[in-house]
Amino acid sequence: MAKSLWIFSALIFLAIPVSSQLNQLFFPGFKDVGTNITLNGIANIQKTGILELTNETSRLMGHAFYASPFQFKNSTDGKAFSFSTSFVFAIVPEYPKLGGHGMAFAIAPSKNLKALPSQYLGLLNSSDMGNFSNHLFAVEFDTVQDFEFGDINDNHVGVDINSLASNHSATAAYFTDDSTKQDLNLKSGKAIQAWIDYDSVGNVLHVTISPSSSKPRKPILSFPIDLSPILQKFMFVGFSASTGLLASSHHLLGWSFKINGQAPALVLSSLPSLPGPKKNHTALTVGVSVAAVILALAAIAVAIYIFRKIKNADIIEDWELELGPHRYSYEELKKATNGFKDKELLGHGGFGRVYKGTIPNSKTEVAVKRISHDSKQGLPEFISEIASIGRLRHRNLVQLLGWCRRGGDLLLVYDFMANGSLDKFLFDEPKRVLSWEERFNIIKGVASGLLYLHEGYEQVVIHRDVKASNVLLDGELNGRLGDFGLARLYEHGANPSTTRVVGTLGYLAPELPRTGKATAGSDVFAFGALLLEVVCGRRPIDPKAMPEELVLVDWVWDRFIEGRLLDVVDRRMNGQFDEGEVVMVLKLGLMCSNNAAIARPSMRHVVMYLEGEAEILDDLGAPGEYNGGKGHVEGFENFVHSFASSSSYGKMSSDAFTRNRGMENSFASLSSSSLLNGRGGETR
Ligand SMILES: *[C@@H]1O[C@H](CO)[C@@H](O)[C@H](O)[C@H]1NC(C)=O
Ligand SMILES: *[C@@H]1O[C@H](CO)[C@@H](O)[C@H](O)[C@H]1NC(C)=O
Ligand SMILES: *[C@@H]1O[C@H](CO)[C@@H](O)[C@H](O)[C@H]1NC(C)=O
Ligand SMILES: *[C@@H]1O[C@H](CO)[C@@H](O)[C@H](O)[C@H]1NC(C)=O
Ligand SMILES: *[C@@H]1O[C@H](CO)[C@@H](O)[C@H](O)[C@H]1NC(C)=O
Ligand SMILES: *[C@@H]1O[C@H](CO)[C@@H](O)[C@H](O)[C@H]1NC(C)=O
Repeated sequence: MAKSLWIFSALIFLAIPVSSQLNQLFFPGFKDVGTNITLNGIANIQKTGILELTNETSRLMGHAFYASPFQFKNSTDGKAFSFSTSFVFAIVPEYPKLGGHGMAFAIAPSKNLKALPSQYLGLLNSSDMGNFSNHLFAVEFDTVQDFEFGDINDNHVGVDINSLASNHSATAAYFTDDSTKQDLNLKSGKAIQAWIDYDSVGNVLHVTISPSSSKPRKPILSFPIDLSPILQKFMFVGFSASTGLLASSHHLLGWSFKINGQAPALVLSSLPSLPGPKKNHTALTVGVSVAAVILALAAIAVAIYIFRKIKNADIIEDWELELGPHRYSYEELKKATNGFKDKELLGHGGFGRVYKGTIPNSKTEVAVKRISHDSKQGLPEFISEIASIGRLRHRNLVQLLGWCRRGGDLLLVYDFMANGSLDKFLFDEPKRVLSWEERFNIIKGVASGLLYLHEGYEQVVIHRDVKASNVLLDGELNGRLGDFGLARLYEHGANPSTTRVVGTLGYLAPELPRTGKATAGSDVFAFGALLLEVVCGRRPIDPKAMPEELVLVDWVWDRFIEGRLLDVVDRRMNGQFDEGEVVMVLKLGLMCSNNAAIARPSMRHVVMYLEGEAEILDDLGAPGEYNGGKGHVEGFENFVHSFASSSSYGKMSSDAFTRNRGMENSFASLSSSSLLNGRGGETR
């Protein structure tokens, strides 16, 4: 009796949820979905029945998930079910050739993703990246190449598991009936159909795309995987899209989905159709078409009027419209900064004044840097430089959002950094004493930003002015490098022989004044000075300090030799720090501060040391010594005596010598104080 009752109730318990569980969706357009689809961010459903995940507004995201979860397993640790989905999407970029950023089909534990736009595609944020507890599965349709996540190009399909570094990806393409591969441009603005099929028996995932409704026989991507550890018993299915500096509108025209079976077929012709090609909204064409209407009345007068208006407005040239970051109007920036009032002044940067502003429409807080340049300089190069800086994207770089040019003024718009620059937290009377955890986090952040500049982008980008006042802190005290690329931008068009060496006293690598050529190694040298500053809470050269403490790197080196390294640690931390980390960072600072460029580690190694993936040995070379090679070349001694204050030079390889040859001359022209330990002179 008791037993049959138990069986009976167990049956009810099992039967009800299973039978009422939905296992299929079919949306040929989204007109009447009612509350069955939950929208988030800027996602909306248009009157035509098209679901718009994002429009062309920068740095936003949109989510659309089916309102209730699907059951993907019989039990919590059971085997995941097979599923299949098909959808039709269209990506219409703001600028024809530049996507921003992409969209993804996602299966997630929640329909309220706490995520970031831009390269994060609205799926994850920087703190949960790669975490197994995300339980996120996504197939991305990405139109921007992000080096941070190792993207293969700016037109690819990728399988993402708990991270945006795709586990597998392929260039967007499809196979025709005779098995020839045809490239497919994701951001063509045209409808593309996708099929994602997961077979839980064969443990394989197939992704197929096509410009038509007939499904190619061969998928573009097949990935062997068992999704059981990733999918939980109940999961939400839907889509996410994001825009970055550049924006696209991401549309969904139809969607079907089925658990344990083939998703119902979608037929392109029965889905809502995309609006026609959008109007080109440049001032010029609008002006011209307005003029055309009025032409009959006063053709010449109007033409002259427009000509004047354009002439007085911000200068726009065709190629500028083709290029990267968002172009702001002068009026917009003037309004944003209250007319560049002194009250909004955040400071004087290396190249000009920086104002705080709020962009009127989006209410985003920004920092506007106003620099003047000689408008006769090679303008296309100048702007293309801005475009290339604008495409550098990393969470430890201060993002360039856009620019505006007006006469001789160049306005650069950056992300606003709530906590200002790092130097205000370190020297003199700090705003607040940073804990060791905060300092270490800042150091690691800056290192990874600098590594990205050196190795993550198409070309090597040398920062040239790494220093505490160029490290900005966001609301969560993450360190971000500012002003990258600016130095080179500023030099464009300048006569190379008169190019000024950019840099700041105490951060300037000794080879720089001689060669005038900044390298990754000179950035590492400056980063070394920064490491020591952050630990010691002192400037690299501190005129107020005791004579033996005047040059920070010498002082740290002397204490290191004496085995009293912890004496140099910022007293304001009250001894609250991880000794191992502090010692490692100080030793790394000494290594980076080596006068010989070839004795310094690369940023890749610096990051490995900081992340604990490599260990620094105790037999460091003195910063003034190069001990990496053999051989000795005459004529070097003189230079050594005047140049190295901290120690004598050891053996020198002939290669290193060649690099150092001629230093005597160049250093003779520097003031004697800047000769101390070879930390070069102020050149601004
Ligand atoms: C919305 O969901 C309910 C229950 O899940 C279903 O009966 C209804 O048909 C759905 N509506 C649409 C338009 O899919
Ligand atoms: C994009 O969508 C947002 C939110 O729906 C809206 O405020 C904005 O005006 C739209 N922008 C464009 C260019 O349509
Ligand atoms: C889930 O349970 C059903 C009913 O008991 C069974 O038919 C099916 O094979 C199970 N599926 C998996 C993947 O274990
Ligand atoms: C990042 O995502 C995780 C998990 O979704 C969430 O708990 C966390 O609050 C998010 N962090 C931020 C800064 O949004
Ligand atoms: C992963 O996320 C969980 C929960 O959000 C958190 O407790 C854990 O520390 C994270 N792990 C890593 C390596 O970030
Ligand atoms: C997918 O990639 C992540 C990180 O890149 C890795 O941790 C995970 O093991 C990979 N999963 C599979 C199934 O390859």
